[in-house]
Amino acid sequence: MAAEMRQPKPLHFLLLLATASLCALARTVKAAGGGGMPLVTAITKDAATSLYTAPLRDNRPLVLDLSGPIVWTTCDGPSHDTLDCSSHACMRAHRFQPPNCPQTGYGEPDARNRCKCTAHPHNPVSGDTASGDVTRVTLSANATDGKNPLYEVSFTAVASCAPGSLLAKLPAGAAGVAGLARSDLALQAQVADTQKVGSKFALCLPSAGSGAGVAIFGGGPLFLLPPGRTDVNATLAGYTPLRKHGESPGYYISADKGIAVNQARLQLDDGYGAPLVLGLCSTIPYTALRPDVYRAFIKAFDATTAERARITPAVAPFELCYNSTQLGSTRLGYAVPQIDLMLEGGRNWTVFGGNSMVQVSDDTACLAFVEMKQGEADKQGESPAAVIGGFQMENNLVVFDEEKQRLGFSSLLWGRQTTCSNFNFTMAA
Ligand SMILES: *[C@@H]1O[C@H](CO)[C@@H](O)[C@H](O)[C@H]1NC(C)=O
Ligand SMILES: *[C@@H]1O[C@H](CO)[C@@H](O)[C@H](O)[C@H]1NC(C)=O
Ligand SMILES: *[C@@H]1O[C@H](CO)[C@@H](O)[C@H](O)[C@H]1NC(C)=O
Ligand SMILES: *[C@@H]1O[C@H](CO)[C@@H](O)[C@H](O)[C@H]1NC(C)=O
Ligand SMILES: *[C@@H]1O[C@H](CO)[C@@H](O)[C@H](O)[C@H]1NC(C)=O
Repeated sequence: MAAEMRQPKPLHFLLLLATASLCALARTVKAAGGGGMPLVTAITKDAATSLYTAPLRDNRPLVLDLSGPIVWTTCDGPSHDTLDCSSHACMRAHRFQPPNCPQTGYGEPDARNRCKCTAHPHNPVSGDTASGDVTRVTLSANATDGKNPLYEVSFTAVASCAPGSLLAKLPAGAAGVAGLARSDLALQAQVADTQKVGSKFALCLPSAGSGAGVAIFGGGPLFLLPPGRTDVNATLAGYTPLRKHGESPGYYISADKGIAVNQARLQLDDGYGAPLVLGLCSTIPYTALRPDVYRAFIKAFDATTAERARITPAVAPFELCYNSTQLGSTRLGYAVPQIDLMLEGGRNWTVFGGNSMVQVSDDTACLAFVEMKQGEADKQGESPAAVIGGFQMENNLVVFDEEKQRLGFSSLLWGRQTTCSNFNFTMAA
Protein backbone atom coordinates (compact mmCIF):
# COMPACT_ATOMS: atom_id res chain seq x y z
CA MET A 1 0.00 0.00 0.00
CA ALA A 2 1.35 3.41 -0.98
CA ALA A 3 2.23 5.72 1.85
CA GLU A 4 0.10 8.80 2.25
CA MET A 5 1.63 11.93 0.81
CA ARG A 6 2.52 14.59 3.32
CA GLN A 7 3.00 18.16 2.22
CA PRO A 8 5.64 20.16 4.04
CA LYS A 9 4.02 22.59 6.43
CA PRO A 10 4.79 26.27 5.93
CA LEU A 11 7.48 27.54 8.28
CA HIS A 12 5.32 30.17 9.99
CA PHE A 13 2.88 27.45 10.91
CA LEU A 14 5.61 25.39 12.56
CA LEU A 15 6.74 28.49 14.43
CA LEU A 16 3.22 29.12 15.64
CA LEU A 17 2.94 25.53 16.76
CA ALA A 18 6.25 25.83 18.58
CA THR A 19 5.12 29.05 20.26
CA ALA A 20 1.80 27.54 21.21
CA SER A 21 3.40 24.47 22.78
CA LEU A 22 5.96 26.61 24.63
CA CYS A 23 3.14 28.69 26.11
CA ALA A 24 1.36 25.52 27.08
CA LEU A 25 4.52 24.23 28.77
CA ALA A 26 5.11 27.53 30.53
CA ARG A 27 1.63 27.46 32.00
CA THR A 28 1.78 23.69 32.46
CA VAL A 29 -1.76 23.39 31.22
CA LYS A 30 -2.89 21.03 28.56
CA ALA A 31 -6.07 21.53 26.58
CA ALA A 32 -8.38 18.53 26.38
CA GLY A 33 -7.87 16.31 23.36
CA GLY A 34 -4.10 16.36 22.86
CA GLY A 35 -2.51 19.69 23.54
CA GLY A 36 -3.53 21.88 20.59
CA MET A 37 -5.70 24.97 20.48
CA PRO A 38 -9.31 24.82 19.29
CA LEU A 39 -10.13 26.79 16.14
CA VAL A 40 -12.84 29.42 15.80
CA THR A 41 -14.61 30.64 12.69
CA ALA A 42 -17.39 33.13 11.98
CA ILE A 43 -20.73 31.86 10.65
CA THR A 44 -22.85 33.92 8.27
CA LYS A 45 -26.47 33.22 7.35
CA ASP A 46 -27.02 33.83 3.64
CA ALA A 47 -30.22 35.84 3.16
CA ALA A 48 -31.03 34.39 -0.26
CA THR A 49 -30.64 30.68 0.58
CA SER A 50 -30.90 30.56 4.42
CA LEU A 51 -27.69 28.50 4.37
CA TYR A 52 -24.92 28.99 6.94
CA THR A 53 -21.36 29.48 5.74
CA ALA A 54 -17.89 29.90 7.23
CA PRO A 55 -14.92 31.59 5.44
CA LEU A 56 -12.62 28.57 5.64
CA ARG A 57 -11.16 28.45 2.13
CA ASP A 58 -8.90 31.48 1.47
CA ASN A 59 -11.65 33.56 3.05
CA ARG A 60 -14.14 32.14 0.59
CA PRO A 61 -17.14 30.60 2.32
CA LEU A 62 -17.93 26.92 2.58
CA VAL A 63 -21.50 25.86 3.38
CA LEU A 64 -21.76 24.08 6.74
CA ASP A 65 -23.47 20.70 6.26
CA LEU A 66 -24.10 18.52 9.33
CA SER A 67 -25.04 15.63 7.01
CA GLY A 68 -21.99 15.83 4.72
CA PRO A 69 -19.22 13.22 5.22
CA ILE A 70 -16.51 15.10 3.25
CA VAL A 71 -15.22 18.57 2.45
CA TRP A 72 -15.59 19.52 -1.22
CA THR A 73 -14.63 22.56 -3.20
CA THR A 74 -13.94 23.70 -6.74
CA CYS A 75 -10.26 23.12 -7.60
CA ASP A 76 -7.96 25.40 -9.60
CA GLY A 77 -7.61 23.70 -12.98
CA PRO A 78 -6.07 20.29 -13.60
CA SER A 79 -2.80 21.12 -11.80
CA HIS A 80 -3.90 19.86 -8.35
CA ASP A 81 -2.39 16.69 -6.90
CA THR A 82 -4.66 13.69 -6.73
CA LEU A 83 -4.37 11.06 -4.01
CA ASP A 84 -3.72 7.42 -4.84
CA CYS A 85 -6.63 4.98 -4.80
CA SER A 86 -4.73 2.87 -2.29
CA SER A 87 -4.27 5.74 0.18
CA HIS A 88 -5.95 5.65 3.54
CA ALA A 89 -7.77 8.89 2.79
CA CYS A 90 -9.21 7.45 -0.42
CA MET A 91 -10.75 4.55 1.46
CA ARG A 92 -12.18 6.97 4.00
CA ALA A 93 -13.61 9.08 1.18
CA HIS A 94 -15.61 6.04 0.08
CA ARG A 95 -16.94 5.05 3.45
CA PHE A 96 -20.24 6.88 2.86
CA GLN A 97 -21.93 7.09 -0.52
CA PRO A 98 -24.30 9.95 -1.29
CA PRO A 99 -27.96 9.02 -1.72
CA ASN A 100 -28.69 7.31 -5.05
CA CYS A 101 -25.01 6.92 -5.85
CA PRO A 102 -23.82 3.33 -6.19
CA GLN A 103 -20.28 2.44 -5.18
CA THR A 104 -18.31 2.66 -8.45
CA GLY A 105 -14.81 1.79 -7.30
CA TYR A 106 -12.20 4.09 -5.86
CA GLY A 107 -10.98 5.88 -8.97
CA GLU A 108 -9.64 5.74 -12.51
CA PRO A 109 -6.21 4.94 -13.95
CA ASP A 110 -4.40 8.00 -15.30
CA ALA A 111 -2.10 8.16 -18.38
CA ARG A 112 0.74 6.58 -16.39
CA ASN A 113 -1.57 3.86 -15.14
CA ARG A 114 -1.65 5.18 -11.59
CA CYS A 115 -5.05 4.88 -10.00
CA LYS A 116 -6.28 8.39 -9.10
CA CYS A 117 -8.77 8.62 -6.28
CA THR A 118 -12.18 10.08 -7.02
CA ALA A 119 -15.04 10.82 -4.65
CA HIS A 120 -18.66 11.82 -5.00
CA PRO A 121 -19.30 15.35 -3.73
CA HIS A 122 -22.98 15.94 -3.03
CA ASN A 123 -24.91 19.21 -3.00
CA PRO A 124 -27.35 18.98 -0.08
CA VAL A 125 -29.64 21.66 -1.53
CA SER A 126 -29.93 20.74 -5.21
CA GLY A 127 -29.54 17.02 -4.45
CA ASP A 128 -26.96 16.72 -7.25
CA THR A 129 -23.91 14.49 -6.97
CA ALA A 130 -20.76 14.76 -9.10
CA SER A 131 -17.41 12.99 -9.39
CA GLY A 132 -14.21 14.73 -8.43
CA ASP A 133 -10.54 14.05 -7.73
CA VAL A 134 -9.59 13.62 -4.09
CA THR A 135 -6.87 16.16 -3.33
CA ARG A 136 -5.42 18.26 -0.52
CA VAL A 137 -6.44 21.87 0.01
CA THR A 138 -5.48 24.58 2.48
CA LEU A 139 -8.15 25.69 4.92
CA SER A 140 -7.82 28.41 7.53
CA ALA A 141 -9.38 29.60 10.75
CA ASN A 142 -8.14 31.21 13.98
CA ALA A 143 -6.84 29.52 17.12
CA THR A 144 -8.95 30.54 20.11
CA ASP A 145 -9.05 30.54 23.89
CA GLY A 146 -12.86 30.67 23.68
CA LYS A 147 -12.88 34.44 24.19
CA ASN A 148 -11.18 35.90 21.10
CA PRO A 149 -9.35 34.76 17.96
CA LEU A 150 -5.65 34.50 18.87
CA TYR A 151 -3.78 33.94 15.58
CA GLU A 152 -4.54 32.59 12.16
CA VAL A 153 -3.93 28.90 11.47
CA SER A 154 -3.78 27.28 8.04
CA PHE A 155 -3.89 23.53 7.71
CA THR A 156 -3.99 20.96 4.97
CA ALA A 157 -7.19 18.99 4.57
CA VAL A 158 -8.28 16.16 2.30
CA ALA A 159 -11.09 17.39 0.06
CA SER A 160 -12.88 16.35 -3.08
CA CYS A 161 -12.74 18.59 -6.11
CA ALA A 162 -16.08 19.39 -7.71
CA PRO A 163 -17.15 20.98 -10.98
CA GLY A 164 -18.37 24.58 -10.76
CA SER A 165 -21.85 23.39 -11.75
CA LEU A 166 -22.18 21.61 -8.39
CA LEU A 167 -22.27 25.04 -6.69
CA ALA A 168 -25.82 25.61 -8.00
CA LYS A 169 -28.25 26.85 -5.31
CA LEU A 170 -25.42 27.57 -2.83
CA PRO A 171 -24.79 31.17 -1.69
CA ALA A 172 -23.10 33.50 -4.18
CA GLY A 173 -19.34 33.30 -3.71
CA ALA A 174 -19.39 29.94 -1.89
CA ALA A 175 -16.50 27.66 -2.90
CA GLY A 176 -18.04 24.37 -1.74
CA VAL A 177 -19.31 22.50 1.29
CA ALA A 178 -17.68 21.68 4.62
CA GLY A 179 -19.17 18.36 5.71
CA LEU A 180 -19.52 18.06 9.50
CA ALA A 181 -21.04 14.56 9.72
CA ARG A 182 -19.72 11.67 11.83
CA SER A 183 -16.99 10.72 9.39
CA ASP A 184 -13.17 10.64 9.35
CA LEU A 185 -12.96 13.15 6.50
CA ALA A 186 -15.47 15.64 7.88
CA LEU A 187 -14.04 19.05 8.77
CA GLN A 188 -14.00 18.61 12.56
CA ALA A 189 -12.25 15.22 12.29
CA GLN A 190 -9.54 16.75 10.12
CA VAL A 191 -9.17 19.68 12.52
CA ALA A 192 -8.83 17.15 15.36
CA ASP A 193 -6.10 15.25 13.43
CA THR A 194 -4.08 18.26 12.34
CA GLN A 195 -4.46 20.46 15.44
CA LYS A 196 -4.30 17.69 18.08
CA VAL A 197 -7.60 18.70 19.60
CA GLY A 198 -10.73 16.76 20.49
CA SER A 199 -13.13 15.45 17.86
CA LYS A 200 -15.97 17.76 18.78
CA PHE A 201 -17.35 21.12 17.76
CA ALA A 202 -19.85 23.67 18.91
CA LEU A 203 -22.20 25.55 16.58
CA CYS A 204 -23.90 28.80 17.46
CA LEU A 205 -25.95 29.73 14.38
CA PRO A 206 -26.88 33.40 13.94
CA SER A 207 -30.36 34.58 13.06
CA ALA A 208 -31.12 36.45 9.83
CA GLY A 209 -30.00 40.06 9.81
CA SER A 210 -27.85 39.85 12.96
CA GLY A 211 -24.06 39.74 13.03
CA ALA A 212 -21.86 36.67 12.54
CA GLY A 213 -22.45 33.55 14.62
CA VAL A 214 -19.61 31.33 15.77
CA ALA A 215 -18.29 27.79 15.51
CA ILE A 216 -15.52 26.32 17.66
CA PHE A 217 -13.72 23.15 16.59
CA GLY A 218 -11.84 21.00 19.06
CA GLY A 219 -13.54 21.73 22.37
CA GLY A 220 -12.81 24.27 25.03
CA PRO A 221 -14.96 27.03 26.49
CA LEU A 222 -17.09 29.59 24.65
CA PHE A 223 -17.66 33.07 26.04
CA LEU A 224 -20.17 35.49 24.55
CA LEU A 225 -20.31 39.22 25.22
CA PRO A 226 -20.86 41.15 27.40
CA PRO A 227 -17.67 40.32 29.33
CA GLY A 228 -17.97 38.69 32.71
CA ARG A 229 -20.42 36.06 31.53
CA THR A 230 -19.71 32.45 32.31
CA ASP A 231 -18.60 29.88 29.76
CA VAL A 232 -21.80 28.96 27.88
CA ASN A 233 -20.44 25.50 27.15
CA ALA A 234 -19.95 24.82 30.85
CA THR A 235 -23.57 25.66 31.61
CA LEU A 236 -25.53 23.76 28.98
CA ALA A 237 -29.17 22.86 29.57
CA GLY A 238 -28.49 19.21 28.91
CA TYR A 239 -26.84 16.38 27.02
CA THR A 240 -28.31 13.45 25.15
CA PRO A 241 -26.58 10.45 23.53
CA LEU A 242 -25.84 10.57 19.79
CA ARG A 243 -27.50 7.69 17.95
CA LYS A 244 -26.99 6.07 14.56
CA HIS A 245 -29.81 5.91 12.06
CA GLY A 246 -29.43 3.36 9.27
CA GLU A 247 -26.36 3.99 7.11
CA SER A 248 -26.53 7.75 7.48
CA PRO A 249 -23.38 9.57 8.72
CA GLY A 250 -25.54 12.37 10.17
CA TYR A 251 -26.48 13.26 13.75
CA TYR A 252 -29.49 11.62 15.39
CA ILE A 253 -30.89 11.73 18.90
CA SER A 254 -33.83 10.03 20.54
CA ALA A 255 -36.87 11.72 22.04
CA ASP A 256 -37.56 8.65 24.12
CA LYS A 257 -40.52 10.26 25.84
CA GLY A 258 -41.81 12.00 22.73
CA ILE A 259 -42.66 15.62 22.00
CA ALA A 260 -44.93 17.84 24.11
CA VAL A 261 -46.81 20.98 23.12
CA ASN A 262 -47.87 23.14 26.07
CA GLN A 263 -46.86 20.33 28.48
CA ALA A 264 -49.06 17.70 26.79
CA ARG A 265 -47.41 14.83 24.94
CA LEU A 266 -48.41 14.42 21.28
CA GLN A 267 -50.41 11.26 20.79
CA LEU A 268 -49.48 9.60 17.51
CA ASP A 269 -51.17 6.86 15.47
CA ASP A 270 -49.28 4.21 17.43
CA GLY A 271 -51.25 5.46 20.45
CA TYR A 272 -48.19 6.53 22.40
CA GLY A 273 -45.87 8.89 20.52
CA ALA A 274 -42.47 7.69 21.71
CA PRO A 275 -39.65 6.97 21.26
CA LEU A 276 -39.02 9.26 18.30
CA VAL A 277 -35.85 9.53 16.21
CA LEU A 278 -34.79 13.14 15.62
CA GLY A 279 -32.15 14.21 13.07
CA LEU A 280 -30.27 17.51 12.90
CA CYS A 281 -29.74 19.29 9.58
CA SER A 282 -28.10 22.66 8.92
CA THR A 283 -29.17 22.84 5.26
CA ILE A 284 -32.95 22.95 5.72
CA PRO A 285 -34.35 26.27 6.98
CA TYR A 286 -37.10 24.92 9.27
CA THR A 287 -37.67 21.70 11.19
CA ALA A 288 -39.44 19.12 9.04
CA LEU A 289 -41.86 16.71 10.72
CA ARG A 290 -42.93 13.33 9.36
CA PRO A 291 -46.57 13.62 8.17
CA ASP A 292 -48.08 11.67 11.11
CA VAL A 293 -46.10 13.77 13.61
CA TYR A 294 -46.80 16.98 11.70
CA ARG A 295 -50.59 16.47 11.79
CA ALA A 296 -50.62 15.76 15.52
CA PHE A 297 -48.29 18.72 16.17
CA ILE A 298 -50.32 21.26 14.15
CA LYS A 299 -53.53 20.01 15.74
CA ALA A 300 -52.12 20.41 19.25
CA PHE A 301 -50.61 23.85 18.63
CA ASP A 302 -53.81 25.01 16.92
CA ALA A 303 -55.90 23.86 19.88
CA THR A 304 -53.74 25.54 22.53
CA THR A 305 -53.73 28.84 20.59
CA ALA A 306 -57.43 28.80 19.66
CA GLU A 307 -58.00 32.25 21.17
CA ARG A 308 -55.12 33.97 19.38
CA ALA A 309 -55.81 36.27 16.40
CA ARG A 310 -54.99 34.37 13.20
CA ILE A 311 -53.86 35.55 9.82
CA THR A 312 -55.67 33.59 7.13
CA PRO A 313 -54.85 32.25 4.71
CA ALA A 314 -51.53 31.28 6.30
CA VAL A 315 -48.30 32.22 4.53
CA ALA A 316 -46.86 29.17 2.74
CA PRO A 317 -45.08 26.90 3.55
CA PHE A 318 -46.55 27.42 7.03
CA GLU A 319 -49.98 26.42 8.24
CA LEU A 320 -50.53 28.48 11.40
CA CYS A 321 -49.95 32.24 11.27
CA TYR A 322 -50.86 34.82 13.91
CA ASN A 323 -51.27 38.57 14.18
CA SER A 324 -47.96 39.16 15.91
CA THR A 325 -49.01 42.53 17.32
CA GLN A 326 -51.36 40.57 19.58
CA LEU A 327 -49.10 37.66 20.58
CA GLY A 328 -47.32 39.32 23.46
CA SER A 329 -43.56 39.00 24.06
CA THR A 330 -41.29 37.50 26.67
CA ARG A 331 -37.51 37.57 26.81
CA LEU A 332 -37.65 34.19 25.01
CA GLY A 333 -39.68 35.54 22.09
CA TYR A 334 -43.41 35.59 21.43
CA ALA A 335 -45.52 34.31 24.31
CA VAL A 336 -46.64 31.08 22.66
CA PRO A 337 -46.92 27.55 24.07
CA GLN A 338 -43.53 25.90 24.56
CA ILE A 339 -42.53 22.78 22.69
CA ASP A 340 -40.55 20.15 24.60
CA LEU A 341 -38.40 17.55 22.88
CA MET A 342 -38.19 15.04 25.73
CA LEU A 343 -34.78 13.53 25.10
CA GLU A 344 -33.06 10.35 26.13
CA GLY A 345 -31.14 11.07 29.33
CA GLY A 346 -34.05 12.93 30.89
CA ARG A 347 -33.52 16.50 29.73
CA ASN A 348 -35.84 18.53 27.51
CA TRP A 349 -34.72 20.57 24.54
CA THR A 350 -37.34 23.27 25.00
CA VAL A 351 -38.28 25.35 21.97
CA PHE A 352 -39.53 28.82 22.97
CA GLY A 353 -41.21 31.51 20.84
CA GLY A 354 -37.86 32.82 19.56
CA ASN A 355 -37.25 29.48 17.85
CA SER A 356 -40.83 28.46 17.05
CA MET A 357 -42.31 31.62 15.48
CA VAL A 358 -40.86 33.23 12.38
CA GLN A 359 -41.74 36.82 11.47
CA VAL A 360 -42.89 36.71 7.85
CA SER A 361 -44.10 40.33 7.62
CA ASP A 362 -44.64 43.33 9.90
CA ASP A 363 -47.59 41.94 11.80
CA THR A 364 -47.53 38.26 10.85
CA ALA A 365 -45.61 35.50 12.63
CA CYS A 366 -45.98 31.83 11.69
CA LEU A 367 -45.28 28.53 13.41
CA ALA A 368 -41.95 27.70 11.76
CA PHE A 369 -42.30 23.97 11.21
CA VAL A 370 -43.01 22.22 7.90
CA GLU A 371 -44.21 18.83 6.75
CA MET A 372 -41.52 16.44 5.54
CA LYS A 373 -41.63 16.14 1.77
CA GLN A 374 -42.95 13.01 0.15
CA GLY A 375 -39.97 10.84 -0.69
CA GLU A 376 -38.09 11.96 2.44
CA ALA A 377 -41.02 10.58 4.40
CA ASP A 378 -42.43 7.74 2.32
CA LYS A 379 -40.48 4.97 3.97
CA GLN A 380 -42.44 5.40 7.21
CA GLY A 381 -40.62 4.05 10.17
CA GLU A 382 -37.32 4.56 8.38
CA SER A 383 -37.51 8.32 8.19
CA PRO A 384 -36.88 10.18 11.44
CA ALA A 385 -39.92 11.64 13.18
CA ALA A 386 -38.38 15.09 12.86
CA VAL A 387 -35.34 16.73 11.31
CA ILE A 388 -34.36 19.80 13.31
CA GLY A 389 -33.55 22.62 10.88
CA GLY A 390 -31.52 25.82 11.02
CA PHE A 391 -34.12 28.22 12.44
CA GLN A 392 -34.71 26.04 15.50
CA MET A 393 -30.94 25.90 16.25
CA GLU A 394 -30.33 29.65 15.90
CA ASN A 395 -29.16 31.45 19.03
CA ASN A 396 -28.70 28.10 20.77
CA LEU A 397 -25.27 26.60 21.42
CA VAL A 398 -25.28 23.04 20.09
CA VAL A 399 -22.24 20.89 20.92
CA PHE A 400 -21.50 17.82 18.77
CA ASP A 401 -19.17 15.65 20.82
CA GLU A 402 -17.96 12.54 18.99
CA GLU A 403 -15.57 11.59 21.80
CA LYS A 404 -18.35 11.27 24.34
CA GLN A 405 -20.89 10.41 21.62
CA ARG A 406 -23.31 12.95 22.91
CA LEU A 407 -25.02 16.17 21.90
CA GLY A 408 -25.12 19.16 24.23
CA PHE A 409 -27.65 21.99 23.94
CA SER A 410 -27.91 25.33 25.70
CA SER A 411 -31.54 26.29 25.05
CA LEU A 412 -32.28 29.79 23.67
CA LEU A 413 -29.46 32.15 24.64
CA TRP A 414 -31.83 35.13 24.86
CA GLY A 415 -32.66 33.72 28.28
CA ARG A 416 -29.06 34.63 29.26
CA GLN A 417 -29.31 38.06 27.65
CA THR A 418 -26.99 37.11 24.82
CA THR A 419 -27.10 35.75 21.25
CA CYS A 420 -24.89 33.75 18.91
CA SER A 421 -23.79 37.04 17.32
CA ASN A 422 -21.96 38.09 20.48
CA PHE A 423 -18.61 36.37 20.10
CA ASN A 424 -15.76 38.91 20.34
CA PHE A 425 -14.05 38.50 16.94
CA THR A 426 -11.42 41.14 17.75
CA MET A 427 -8.00 39.53 17.65
CA ALA A 428 -6.59 39.35 21.19
CA ALA A 429 -3.74 41.79 21.66
C1 LIG B 1 -9.09 35.55 12.05
O1 LIG B 1 -9.67 36.57 12.85
C2 LIG B 1 -9.55 37.88 12.29
C3 LIG B 1 -10.09 38.86 13.32
O2 LIG B 1 -11.46 38.59 13.57
C4 LIG B 1 -10.29 37.95 10.97
O3 LIG B 1 -10.14 39.22 10.37
C5 LIG B 1 -9.75 36.89 10.04
O4 LIG B 1 -10.52 36.88 8.84
C6 LIG B 1 -9.83 35.52 10.71
N1 LIG B 1 -9.22 34.54 9.83
C7 LIG B 1 -9.89 33.47 9.37
C8 LIG B 1 -9.14 32.58 8.47
O5 LIG B 1 -11.05 33.23 9.68
C1 LIG C 1 -17.61 21.79 26.41
O1 LIG C 1 -17.63 21.13 27.66
C2 LIG C 1 -17.33 19.77 27.60
C3 LIG C 1 -17.57 19.15 28.98
O2 LIG C 1 -17.05 19.96 29.99
C4 LIG C 1 -15.91 19.57 27.10
O3 LIG C 1 -15.61 18.20 26.99
C5 LIG C 1 -15.77 20.23 25.71
O4 LIG C 1 -14.44 20.20 25.30
C6 LIG C 1 -16.24 21.67 25.76
N1 LIG C 1 -16.21 22.35 24.47
C7 LIG C 1 -16.73 21.91 23.33
C8 LIG C 1 -16.69 22.84 22.16
O5 LIG C 1 -17.22 20.80 23.21
C1 LIG D 1 -40.07 17.96 30.06
O1 LIG D 1 -41.26 18.37 29.45
C2 LIG D 1 -42.42 17.70 29.93
C3 LIG D 1 -43.60 18.13 29.07
O2 LIG D 1 -43.71 19.52 29.02
C4 LIG D 1 -42.60 18.04 31.41
O3 LIG D 1 -43.73 17.34 31.90
C5 LIG D 1 -41.36 17.59 32.16
O4 LIG D 1 -41.46 17.99 33.51
C6 LIG D 1 -40.13 18.22 31.56
N1 LIG D 1 -38.94 17.63 32.18
C7 LIG D 1 -37.92 18.34 32.62
C8 LIG D 1 -36.77 17.59 33.19
O5 LIG D 1 -37.91 19.57 32.56
C1 LIG E 1 -53.37 42.91 13.84
O1 LIG E 1 -53.86 43.47 15.01
C2 LIG E 1 -53.80 44.88 15.04
C3 LIG E 1 -54.20 45.35 16.44
O2 LIG E 1 -55.41 44.77 16.82
C4 LIG E 1 -54.66 45.46 13.93
O3 LIG E 1 -54.58 46.88 13.94
C5 LIG E 1 -54.17 44.92 12.59
O4 LIG E 1 -55.01 45.34 11.54
C6 LIG E 1 -54.13 43.39 12.62
N1 LIG E 1 -53.45 42.94 11.38
C7 LIG E 1 -53.99 42.06 10.56
C8 LIG E 1 -53.22 41.74 9.32
O5 LIG E 1 -55.07 41.52 10.78
C1 LIG F 1 -13.04 42.28 22.65
O1 LIG F 1 -11.74 41.77 22.81
C2 LIG F 1 -10.71 42.79 22.72
C3 LIG F 1 -9.37 42.06 22.74
O2 LIG F 1 -9.24 41.26 23.89
C4 LIG F 1 -10.90 43.73 23.89
O3 LIG F 1 -9.91 44.73 23.82
C5 LIG F 1 -12.28 44.35 23.81
O4 LIG F 1 -12.51 45.16 24.95
C6 LIG F 1 -13.35 43.26 23.75
N1 LIG F 1 -14.63 43.90 23.46
C7 LIG F 1 -15.63 43.90 24.35
C8 LIG F 1 -16.89 44.58 23.93
O5 LIG F 1 -15.53 43.34 25.44
